[in-house]
Amino acid sequence: MTSNYISFIHRGRIVKIKNLDSNETLLNYIRTKLTKIGSKNGCSEGGCGACTVVLGELKNNEIKYRAINSCITFVPTIQGKQLILVEDLISKDGSLHPVQEAMVNYHGSQCGFCTPGFVMALFAMFKQNSKFTNDIIKDSIAGNLCRCTGYQPIIKAAKSLKNKKNFDHFSQNQKTTINLLKKINNISIAIKTNGRKYFAPRYVSELKKILKQNSDANLLSGGTDLSLRVTKERQDINSIIYMNSIVDLNYIKNNDQYIEVGASTPLMDLEIYIQKYYPDFTKILRRYGSPQIRNVGTVAGNIATASPIGDCLPLLLSLNAQVVLKDLKDTKTLFLDSFFINYRKTKLKKGQFIHSITIPLFKKNKFKAYKVSKRFDDDISSVCAAFNIGIVKNKIQSVRIAFGGMASIPKRANFCEKILLNSLMDDETINKAKKALEKDFKPISDMRASGLYRMEVAKNLLEKCCIEIKENKLIGVYA
Ligand SMILES: Cc1cc2nc3c(=O)[nH]c(=O)nc-3n(C[C@H](O)[C@H](O)[C@H](O)COP(=O)(O)OP(=O)(O)OC[C@H]3O[C@@H](n4cnc5c(N)ncnc54)[C@H](O)[C@@H]3O)c2cc1C
Ligand code: FES
Ligand code: FES
Repeated sequence: MTSNYISFIHRGRIVKIKNLDSNETLLNYIRTKLTKIGSKNGCSEGGCGACTVVLGELKNNEIKYRAINSCITFVPTIQGKQLILVEDLISKDGSLHPVQEAMVNYHGSQCGFCTPGFVMALFAMFKQNSKFTNDIIKDSIAGNLCRCTGYQPIIKAAKSLKNKKNFDHFSQNQKTTINLLKKINNISIAIKTNGRKYFAPRYVSELKKILKQNSDANLLSGGTDLSLRVTKERQDINSIIYMNSIVDLNYIKNNDQYIEVGASTPLMDLEIYIQKYYPDFTKILRRYGSPQIRNVGTVAGNIATASPIGDCLPLLLSLNAQVVLKDLKDTKTLFLDSFFINYRKTKLKKGQFIHSITIPLFKKNKFKAYKVSKRFDDDISSVCAAFNIGIVKNKIQSVRIAFGGMASIPKRANFCEKILLNSLMDDETINKAKKALEKDFKPISDMRASGLYRMEVAKNLLEKCCIEIKENKLIGVYA
């Protein structure tokens, strides 16, 4: 079924919106149309968390609660979901939600501007976890900035939740909400208003039909890159095809040889899945933006941007990943190595889309990855490095090294690899390999780091990786 209006659940009922502007942000809709002004606008670029709201989505007959940045979410993308605002946390009898109560009891708020965002980030944590460890708490609020309270009272408030039973009016009404979600969650959307087109297909077969008529449309996945064209650059995006509504692209599976990730799978799901195979991949993803960003952002979106500082890209290059491209008729599989052409340019053609990504499993190799950024949380890499090294009888038998932040595209370190291949991992080889990085890269200076610093960091990360491998530390320590 295709609809020209969207439906979502809010406060226990189905809300329908007609004639909506596909470029309107959810935050604007909440504040101006729903006239709920708890959610704040701090940055309009997903960086401060003041606009955080939670979406409830049906997955395997359960509701998954995900915190998102409403400032970079276009309204129609909430089709088929439950919208939860800070105002909705208070129960009918006026009592505060356990998360709100904890924030009051532990003085987690001063000026209060950031508070609704923190409350919603903690609410998502409360609903999704049974334990609230330091790591879980810190990760849950990594996308929320506070300029006055300081984080300790907020962390203490979060810790106090461990004594609270995870039962609230959302749990009480869960069955009703699931039934309502089932009524609206399998609807495709096609909206044409004021010269703008917005499509949200449910299946790849529908996507192909839409692409046939609209090969110029912008493919929108998590929108953590694309939507900033509207919110920061004040451009219009007149034709959008929403990819994250496509159910048969939202999957991760693996066999003995590789992991396959569907294009609309959120980074957060990959972060959890891949830990067993490549723990360092998970460690890098944990430092990728924030939960709000990873709950919607996708690997496909990261690859399609070809950003030289896209964090997944050096990791995927070093793991020799392949990208599966489809159009109306054909399927093409390319090694990621050959996919990036130039600064933010890829081989993706009009009418083509990324269908999936395959990541080989190098069971006998050591895989290590490091991210160096000015700030630990929610910051873009100055340098991101990934090493995939196979050693047999002390000799390096296979090596793939890739860096982000060192060139105009994410790139392999070919000269460095040549030095290492078939060598012992001794000091002489490591020093030569470090020197070879100067042939591989001429990094630029920008606001994140100088070229000199980047080169020094790249060399140090190579040395760090070799030392750790020699000491047989299988999991890389955060840089
Ligand atoms: C606050 C913030 C923090 C961030 N932190 C990081 C970080 O730490 N590390 C990092 O690497 N990036 C970071 N980013 C950048 C951003 O998250 C990435 O670029 C992201 O991977 C984009 O994925 P997306 O699904 O949101 O793509 P979108 O924004 O939806 O799309 C990005 C591009 O990919 C295209 N595209 C999307 N899906 C497909 C598809 N299936 N087939 C073909 N083309 C497609 C779109 O048309 C668009 O051109 C951050 C962004 C923000 C706003
Ligand atoms: S307003 Fe700053 S993240 Fe949305
Ligand atoms: S309480 Fe003022 S910004 Fe956090």
